Amino acid sequence: MKHYVSMEDFHAGEIQSVLSLAKEYEKHKIPMQNKEIFAANLFYEPSTRTKSSFEVAERRLGLSVIPFEVNHSSVQKGETLYDTVKTFEAIGCNLLVIRHPETDYYKDLIPSLNIPLINGGDGSGQHPSQCLLDLYTIQKEFGSFKGIKVLIAGDLKHSRVARSNARALSMLGAKVFFYSPAEWVDEELLQWGSFCQIDDILPIVDVAMMLRVQLERHTETGHIDDYHQQYGLTLERAKRMKSGSIIMHPAPVNRDVEIAGPLVESPQSRIFEQMRNGVFVRMAMIDSLLQKWGIGTNENTAKERTMVGW
Ligand code: CP
Repeated sequence: MKHYVSMEDFHAGEIQSVLSLAKEYEKHKIPMQNKEIFAANLFYEPSTRTKSSFEVAERRLGLSVIPFEVNHSSVQKGETLYDTVKTFEAIGCNLLVIRHPETDYYKDLIPSLNIPLINGGDGSGQHPSQCLLDLYTIQKEFGSFKGIKVLIAGDLKHSRVARSNARALSMLGAKVFFYSPAEWVDEELLQWGSFCQIDDILPIVDVAMMLRVQLERHTETGHIDDYHQQYGLTLERAKRMKSGSIIMHPAPVNRDVEIAGPLVESPQSRIFEQMRNGVFVRMAMIDSLLQKWGIGTNENTAKERTMVGW
């Protein structure tokens, strides 16, 4: 695999290798000792977590981050994504992280791309780094995926998080359930799990993964006013979850829409833990991808490198 653009390209061994490397980073807090390696984060859609977390990961690994803001770039003069990417390649950038509203944007880029690409989210397509940090969080909590019951609930149709997680979770041995308003069901997802009613399934799941209602991708209206009571994780529903179960959400959260506000910081919630884990997972993704391309000075594993405190 030359780029990390879709969870469909990962086999179980590759997922576990990234998760193990993330664990080493969390345990040992060791930066890579690279020569000057440049990374650019090209975000054509808003982001707080993914963009900042990649930047922290890149800096912790010793990479130099080239600033790029779409609104202050030649994109405003009509430059295409392709020409922007080739420009970064030409000026010596060694790694690109791209988020773009067009699903599968990377498919046209990859044949002409000579540097590694990590997909930071494409339209309603894929979000591999979110998926891997979700997997990392679940593995940390339960030790393994075998038999873990995960409910993915909410705006399935527009969710790249659901699409990325469903296949990976199922492949790793988890049992996946889905719930959404009828109009937001995604038939393709049902190959990885079964559709169910939230009130029936919540008492037996280990993980309730609530999805953001992605109003920016909706063409239809409706639902949002009564969404919380009908489809959301209300305080009453959360009380019926079993002991030891956890609540996840990729964030940003629409409080009191997909999830009751007080649940976001409840003991059951792993929402901020997911964000914290995201840095280690992104460090692992960058490290392993640079190694595949022979970029960087470190050929040893993270464990074997000199320990240096941050
Ligand atoms: N979870 C996630 O992708 O958040 P951002 O849109 O803030 O990056």
